[in-house]
Amino acid sequence: MKVLICYFSGTGNTRRVVNKYAEVLKQRNHEIEVHRIEDLLYKEGYEKPDYSSCDMLGIGYPVHAFNAPSIVIDFVRSLPKQTEKKRAFILNTSGEPLKLNNISSLKTRSILKKRGYDVTNEYHYCMPYNIIFRHTDEMAYKMWNYAEGIIPLDCAQMLNGEKHKLGYVFMGRPMAWLFRIEHWGGRFNGKRYKVNDKCINCQMCVKICPTNNIKIEDGKFKFGKNCLMCMRCAHLCSQNAIKIGMFEKWKVNGPYHFQKPTKEEENKHKRYCKKAYKRYFAECESRLGILKEEK
Ligand SMILES: Cc1cc2nc3c(=O)[nH]c(=O)nc-3n(C[C@H](O)[C@H](O)[C@H](O)COP(=O)(O)O)c2cc1C
Repeated sequence: MKVLICYFSGTGNTRRVVNKYAEVLKQRNHEIEVHRIEDLLYKEGYEKPDYSSCDMLGIGYPVHAFNAPSIVIDFVRSLPKQTEKKRAFILNTSGEPLKLNNISSLKTRSILKKRGYDVTNEYHYCMPYNIIFRHTDEMAYKMWNYAEGIIPLDCAQMLNGEKHKLGYVFMGRPMAWLFRIEHWGGRFNGKRYKVNDKCINCQMCVKICPTNNIKIEDGKFKFGKNCLMCMRCAHLCSQNAIKIGMFEKWKVNGPYHFQKPTKEEENKHKRYCKKAYKRYFAECESRLGILKEEK
């Protein structure tokens, strides 16, 4: 089978998941092609894949305010219409294992349907937050460890032709529509980003911005109106020199390493969504057949 995965990842969590899918599918002797949506949409001269020649199309993205990021919506809208129905699947990552996150794919699914795709499988992986607060290394390690274990099971399910949908959310469509204000709000807030005097002028932010929204004019950093609020610039800035407008207090700077920490750290957010994470980890464990240790 030929599988094509097109994904967007602001700060690397979704990329990690997509790469694991590619690894597993390759091991099972499937042909796999992976593309970043930002390259497909904005990179000049980038060679586009032949969508009609693939058997399955995968779309990967991080949940942004209970929706897909606007770049993903733009991308699926730009897909050539398929004459014969094709199977598709959606992979998403989010900082919380909340049921409300399930509404993030409603728009993507309905556009894909109009473009001739049948979304038969959808999977969600809890990965550390890149905004709001920093998950501890312990939590990040645990999240990735479970995702890595479960992905081969999800791939097997998908390849066996078994369907998998995320749970229905009552009033999901109007709620997703309301939260889509983030697409507009991101652009508004993005123009308010600032660089402070910790900046060493490495200009990495300029190079990595998915929409080329950061420019240098008269020696000064200028943030345009195409910000996706993906956090890539602020998260990966080695000097923590980018201020993210009104969400500055929620900034999470520095990449996660997903390695088991040597000692348990103080978790500032121990109580935050405690039950939801516990449930998510327990579900992962039961799928992986791990016996729960009595705590
Ligand atoms: C603007 C923005 C909005 C977000 N909204 C949600 C959300 O509604 N629910 C959630 O669980 N996580 C949310 N997150 C967290 C990300 O979905 C999560 O950290 C994801 O794994 C990041 O993936 P990436 O590294 O591929 O960008 C949000 C992150 C950003 C930057």
